[in-house]
Amino acid sequence: MKEPMPSPPWNFHNPVKVHFGAGCRKVLATGLSRHKLLVVTTARGRAQFTADPHLGMLESDITWSDRVNSNPGLTDIQAEIDRLSGQAFDAVLAFGGGSAMDAAKTMTAALTPGLACRDLATLISDPGRHLTKPLLPIYAVSTTSGTGAEVTPFATIWDHQNRKKLSLASPRLFPVTAIVDPELTHGLPRAATLSTSLDAMNQAFESVWNRNRTPLTTLMAARAIKLAFVAIPRLAVDLDDHDGRTFIAEASLLAGLCISQTRTAICHSMSYPLTAHFGIAHGLACAATMSAVAHEVLTAKPAGLAEVAALNGLTNAISLVQQLDSVLQTTDLRRFLATELPKRDAVIALLADMYTPGRSENFILQIDHDLLTRIIERDLE
Ligand SMILES: [Fe+2]
Repeated sequence: MKEPMPSPPWNFHNPVKVHFGAGCRKVLATGLSRHKLLVVTTARGRAQFTADPHLGMLESDITWSDRVNSNPGLTDIQAEIDRLSGQAFDAVLAFGGGSAMDAAKTMTAALTPGLACRDLATLISDPGRHLTKPLLPIYAVSTTSGTGAEVTPFATIWDHQNRKKLSLASPRLFPVTAIVDPELTHGLPRAATLSTSLDAMNQAFESVWNRNRTPLTTLMAARAIKLAFVAIPRLAVDLDDHDGRTFIAEASLLAGLCISQTRTAICHSMSYPLTAHFGIAHGLACAATMSAVAHEVLTAKPAGLAEVAALNGLTNAISLVQQLDSVLQTTDLRRFLATELPKRDAVIALLADMYTPGRSENFILQIDHDLLTRIIERDLE
């Protein structure tokens, strides 16, 4: 066995209590009984929650905020904050995918009693100044396997008017409890299943080609990648593959734990203008540049990929990237991008917006105009 290299100093902090596995949502029945609960979800989520044999029986006093749309907008969330302001809650339950989680975290930050700031734009501009005490406890129950937002301290909100992605980030936004119950993802339609699964796989890789990578995030990313490589091709042909759903749910959770430490990197940075301008779903927009990025990393700085390959019993980083390419080919990604993306010049025109502060500098390679152009030309035309 090859001797390991000594690690540079690293740290890890994630305070979320995690429950994973089929049926694990049952713990909420005892944990939240007789709570005054704000449930943040979509219209579809409310129907699923109410019909669920375990969640529908919750003996809590529930107030609903069930108008979350995908890519939740500043104005819509502000309207919900204004509507609910003055009501008292014991806890907030986020039920859904990344959008419901992001909306719930943001609303909690503005609705926690004793915190003065109800104006989202002000809150986002300086969360450290406004979030001066612990927030209401957030229980994050995921119904998709993608963002890992149930274990991260970030929330993405969109300024749709200006086609800009905003981020609220604070250690106070960590949920207290995350419930990742793969049974809740059964029945998710094909497009949402593939897009969110690609987001999960992408986030695992983003934590590997990342300046903040640590030995622990690499271990979790390696397992997330192994699970996603098995799950994605299986779900692409059979949405009712329950093992596939369980694999990708765990992959998503592990990738979320990874990015809660490393944050995301270049693919996310490049994805935001694709979503804001062309409406490409988040997971597809992130996966769009993945192959090109993997090949750039392979050429310039393959150590992280090589470590993941070794942890998964593969010969080297090249075989890991080959597997990634073949997994991507099992999805509708290329066909979808070919029909949904505009011509090269319209994508190149967004290049300056693809350097997202807080994302792009996490990438292990220096990002410049040439690198971004090469990635766009390889994957986005
Ligand atoms: Fe993501």
